[in-house]
Amino acid sequence: MAKALFDRIARLYDYEVKDFVHDIPFYVEYAKECGGDVLELGCGTGRVLIPIANEGIKITGLDASERMLAIARKKVKSDKELRKNVTLVHGDMKSFKLNKKFSLIYVAFRSFQCLLTKKDQIACLECVFEHLVEGGCLIVDLFAPRHDLLAQSRVTLDLGSFYDMENGLHITRRSEVQYDLAKQTLHEDRVYEWKDGSGNACREFWSYDIAYLFRYESELLLEKCGFRIDNVYGDFDKSPYNYYSGEQIFVARKCQHRRIIQ
Ligand SMILES: C[S@@+](CC[C@H](N)C(=O)[O-])C[C@H]1O[C@@H](n2cnc3c(N)ncnc32)[C@H](O)[C@@H]1O
Repeated sequence: MAKALFDRIARLYDYEVKDFVHDIPFYVEYAKECGGDVLELGCGTGRVLIPIANEGIKITGLDASERMLAIARKKVKSDKELRKNVTLVHGDMKSFKLNKKFSLIYVAFRSFQCLLTKKDQIACLECVFEHLVEGGCLIVDLFAPRHDLLAQSRVTLDLGSFYDMENGLHITRRSEVQYDLAKQTLHEDRVYEWKDGSGNACREFWSYDIAYLFRYESELLLEKCGFRIDNVYGDFDKSPYNYYSGEQIFVARKCQHRRIIQ
């Protein structure tokens, strides 16, 4: 597999998302309710997967980035209970075969949006369908596209700063975001800036593209691939999706027959 997008920033990832925790209880609750094994696609460094495994639930995490997985593996290795409950797999969420079925499959923190085309999104959902037990649950979290930002087409964002504990550095982040309204993709050029031990200004750049999806196209995509939508939440407190929501969280069930809509 080619060098994955997140390999470059894997080292910084946990510092960057340190305060993003409000989705964890939501996934833990569904994982407890599902009563079976769980699969996370795009599990990264185990931010959500580890709290689920800590509840004694058997969970598999799949990710395309070896470096993100290496960080997750280190965490799992250090704890006997985690070693028992967690399986980590290097793979692509649009073409995986694990020879096992799960009661819950979830794709947290917009990882699904790394799939840029309808073809790749469908390929992923087809794999999910094959790996879910009958009536099994799929949860997909996407960001809610903001119409005011889309209309600007180019936006500069101050993403604040974080502390890199390993190297003792305060790192600030800025980004320039461009929307391609025809392809429904977002291109971000992100700049990380810090001062080294001698006070020299340092910079690192990271660019990536992700897709953005609207509510009803996502619902149709899920339905096309054999899922029934149970709920669309606008946040992890289970408030309904509305114009002001930051998230679109789809909770769906595997139907008996694939492709309701041909
Ligand atoms: C925003 S991070 C989310 C990580 C983790 N789920 C979390 O909530 O912190 C996106 C993750 O998706 C992974 N990813 C992106 N495209 C993927 C693909 N096609 N197959 C598997 N993993 C992928 C990346 O390597 C990265 O770890």
